[in-house]
Amino acid sequence: MNRGEIEAVARSLVAPGKGILAADESAPTIEKRFGTIGLSSTEENRRAYRELLFTAPGIDDFISGVILFDETMRQNTRDGTPFPRLLARRGIVPGIKVDAGAKDLAGFPGEKITEGLDGLRGRLATYREQGARFAKWRAVIDIGDGIPTSCCLRANAHALARYASLCQEAGLVPIVEPEVLMDGGHPIERCEEVTTEALSLVYGELAGHRVHLEGTLLKPNMVISGKKCPVQAGVEQVAEATVRTLRRVVPSAVPGIVFLSGGQTPRQATEHLSAMNAKGAHPWELAFSYGRALQDPVLKAWKGDGANVAAAQAAFLRRSKLNGAARYGRYSPAMEDAA
Ligand code: 13P
Repeated sequence: MNRGEIEAVARSLVAPGKGILAADESAPTIEKRFGTIGLSSTEENRRAYRELLFTAPGIDDFISGVILFDETMRQNTRDGTPFPRLLARRGIVPGIKVDAGAKDLAGFPGEKITEGLDGLRGRLATYREQGARFAKWRAVIDIGDGIPTSCCLRANAHALARYASLCQEAGLVPIVEPEVLMDGGHPIERCEEVTTEALSLVYGELAGHRVHLEGTLLKPNMVISGKKCPVQAGVEQVAEATVRTLRRVVPSAVPGIVFLSGGQTPRQATEHLSAMNAKGAHPWELAFSYGRALQDPVLKAWKGDGANVAAAQAAFLRRSKLNGAARYGRYSPAMEDAA
């Protein structure tokens, strides 16, 4: 591992005013997203959609890196340029999702463990040769009756640490993503409790596995009310609870925290990020690594029709710009109509 290089890549991913586009939807997930616009998930449709995203004019001012899926890593633009090369030329760092998905945790109904450690060392070496400079592994933690159990939290934290350590050995920055889902009916306080415990265990395991924190990024959920909770916390409350939780458990050696959007609307995700950054200086950069919150408006504008590519790219630039403003705490909902 070249520590200097890894640290530099991690810092560049959270450069001022910038954040990450998560475009690493697996085959079943992209099929679901295309389903919302009535488009079938053929290899060519997936390629065309990713080309639209990666060639969008102006996004390099706001997008520092893109997380790709295995298939996308090996696809090209229509004129034959491999996607990782195209991104690197634009000054956007290519990254890769390397987990094999969250599977049922045996013996623990309703809970998941992320698979993909077997053979990971070899796959990471190949991805690096293909141009990847960072990676992502997502653990999924659901809140419900009697869950999460401590066994589930520990097993996922352990896997995240093994992944992170292998990434650094291969010269890649690991994005460590323990996602506490917002699907349940729980109040924000329960989300805070579970997020605190999950992140504490993750940082214990990372230390135990000798992971170099300065060369990592954290991708957490925000501390937020469950979607089905009758009482929904407001923007200020989410910002306060999230910052409080992170300050308690995320070491200041970590250069940046790149939130997932997790089912928030694009506007909510931007508003929450901006409210956190408006609170003044934090020990780490607070940035974004959004999938749906960046892409939903793009898909709606595109609809799978080549004639809509420019409009879809404009929608992507607009959302990126608003999140760029949120990086400085300067977003306001009034900008939605102006942008
Ligand atoms: P969302 O922002 O849509 O939650 O996706 C981010 C991501 O990469 C989830 O793993």
